[in-house]
Amino acid sequence: MHQDIQEILLTEQQIKTRIQELGQDLLRDYQGKCPVFVCILKGAVVFYADMIRAFDDHCEMAFMQISSYSGTQSTGNIVVRQDVSMDLTDRHVVILEDILDTGRSLQYVCDYLRNKGAASVKICTLLDKPEGRAPGVTLEADYVGFRIPNAFVVGFGLDYDEYYRNLPYVGVLKPAAYTK
Ligand code: XMP
Ligand code: MG
Repeated sequence: MHQDIQEILLTEQQIKTRIQELGQDLLRDYQGKCPVFVCILKGAVVFYADMIRAFDDHCEMAFMQISSYSGTQSTGNIVVRQDVSMDLTDRHVVILEDILDTGRSLQYVCDYLRNKGAASVKICTLLDKPEGRAPGVTLEADYVGFRIPNAFVVGFGLDYDEYYRNLPYVGVLKPAAYTK
């Protein structure tokens, strides 16, 4: 285990097993529909690479990067830094995200992609923090890997200041690691 990690919340094996199950769920709902899997960079990239390989049918890949600038009131202003490069008209879109927390980012991305004329837009998230939802956000994910408590986690794509994305598990940082 990495020296900065206090506790492993989800092991590599647990995540691997769950991704196979999610792949089956997606196959049940999207077989023959050639869904477009949209990866939300950068956090979802590790989850994404495993998820698309757990989906045993035709699909297409797309990438999108957003930034959320929370002002003094953490209202979460979202900016699209990189847009999907393909036409989504009448396509079945599944957004793959690392974590659903306040729900503001995904709320924005969902509306944004619906406005591109997608036939459907669903959310598949590795992690869900149900307690983190911002007031007024009613958005829920359609496919959830794991529901976790309201703690800051890193690994499997999730970062603290860009570090720890490469850890093969999801863990909680030691308090000392935040001062680096
Ligand atoms: P929302 O809009 O749902 O945004 O709050 C989710 C985004 O917030 C980041 N986030 C985290 N990143 N550990 C992280 O490394 C966490 O525990 C965490 N909670 C939220 C993340 O970038 C995600 O895409
Ligand atoms: Mg992040």
